[in-house]
Amino acid sequence: MKTLIKNATVVLPNETLSTSILIEDTKIADIDPASQVTVDKVVDASGLHLLPGVIDDQVHFREPGLTHKEDLYTATRACAKGGVTTFLEMPNTNPNTVTQEALEAKLALAAGKCLVNYGFYIGATPDNVEDLKHAHRTPGIKIFIGSSTGNLLVDAQDALERIFAETTLPACAHCEDESTVRANAERFAGTTDVHDHSRIRDHEAAIIATRRAIDLAKRHTHRFHVLHVSTGAETLLLAEHENLITAEVCPHHLFFNVDDYERLGSLVQMNPSIKTEEDNKQLWHALLDGLIQVIATDHAPHTLEEKRQPYPKSPSGLPAVENSLALMLNQVHRGLCTIEQVVRWMCDAPARVWDIVDKGRIAVGYDADLVLVDLNKAATIHNEEQETKSKWSPWDGESLTGWPVSTWVMGHQVFCNGVIDESRRGSEAIYDHARGGYWST
Ligand code: DOR
Repeated sequence: MKTLIKNATVVLPNETLSTSILIEDTKIADIDPASQVTVDKVVDASGLHLLPGVIDDQVHFREPGLTHKEDLYTATRACAKGGVTTFLEMPNTNPNTVTQEALEAKLALAAGKCLVNYGFYIGATPDNVEDLKHAHRTPGIKIFIGSSTGNLLVDAQDALERIFAETTLPACAHCEDESTVRANAERFAGTTDVHDHSRIRDHEAAIIATRRAIDLAKRHTHRFHVLHVSTGAETLLLAEHENLITAEVCPHHLFFNVDDYERLGSLVQMNPSIKTEEDNKQLWHALLDGLIQVIATDHAPHTLEEKRQPYPKSPSGLPAVENSLALMLNQVHRGLCTIEQVVRWMCDAPARVWDIVDKGRIAVGYDADLVLVDLNKAATIHNEEQETKSKWSPWDGESLTGWPVSTWVMGHQVFCNGVIDESRRGSEAIYDHARGGYWST
């Protein structure tokens, strides 16, 4: 099957060009092919931008075990609509993904259900270092240095030392210091005010844990990715990355702050918590300055019923995969960044951080994971139109300019003008960890 995407403005690794792209089966076969090329299908992309598909390296898709909130099918419908062509999913499902067996069970589930490409982290526990040492078919190791949704936690120093010393897969962590959070929670015991969430999971908690993880990574020369940085102060710790350390920020930490609890209550209750307007600004600048390399969503759906319970019964987490690219394209529309920067943060950098083979760029021989976006399309987010099973978005009612209009996964047009084509499944992401990660390429 040959498809020609014609006359798009194509964001290539080193230039943005008005040209055409030839897809042959699952691959990008040519850039600017000869005009007489014969194809099965032509897509006229005049006036539209063609980007590599988004790679979201931090999502919680709830399967197995928590499928009343989300499952791999509903989540990947949301991905297809949002321009996300590959996701890397976290291990806090039920059962937790902490053995090769559990990892392979998830991969088998995904093969039957996912409309986009997939990958799954293996989770660290205080005593599964042997599993982590021998794990494969995974982007890397996820460590909850502070606890969040679920029961995964490794905060004892000796257990962390062993993980960083004895394993070779790249690692990433949820960095909120457990003892700081517990001490704060005692101070606020009995509170039902969701504002206190950001006082319990405060700046100190994030900074202490991030500093601790970076120290471990440096001492053990272990590749490490700081998940969902939430404070400006943490970004200062990232300057000395020593070619080992990368970091990411989520849209909710860029766009929400403690003032939003008034309007949105526990809908913006997240771990790490949202912080101040000053942190929003510092995180944005860290992204522009290259201290933070990746944007990921931490898509973590809970039902509205669960979220509406009084704090602290309300669980932490919000859905985001179907709106993350549009949120960033809206920043392009506002003149706050360029489309090339969005591609770097959401497509190219995550592929490099996790050594994903043939993804994250538009280049000949790369997988045909692509998203066509209309930078002039204006639309409003509505809860009832969300594909996520949880059927809500913290951005409900928000109007954005710049939206995905078509998505290809391994050459298959899975989304086109509002319609999702479910006739094919995505593929397992492949990693080549010998590449050495973000800083080596
Ligand atoms: O708020 C959060 N929710 N943060 C996490 O790290 C986990 C997530 C979840 O799984 O619900």
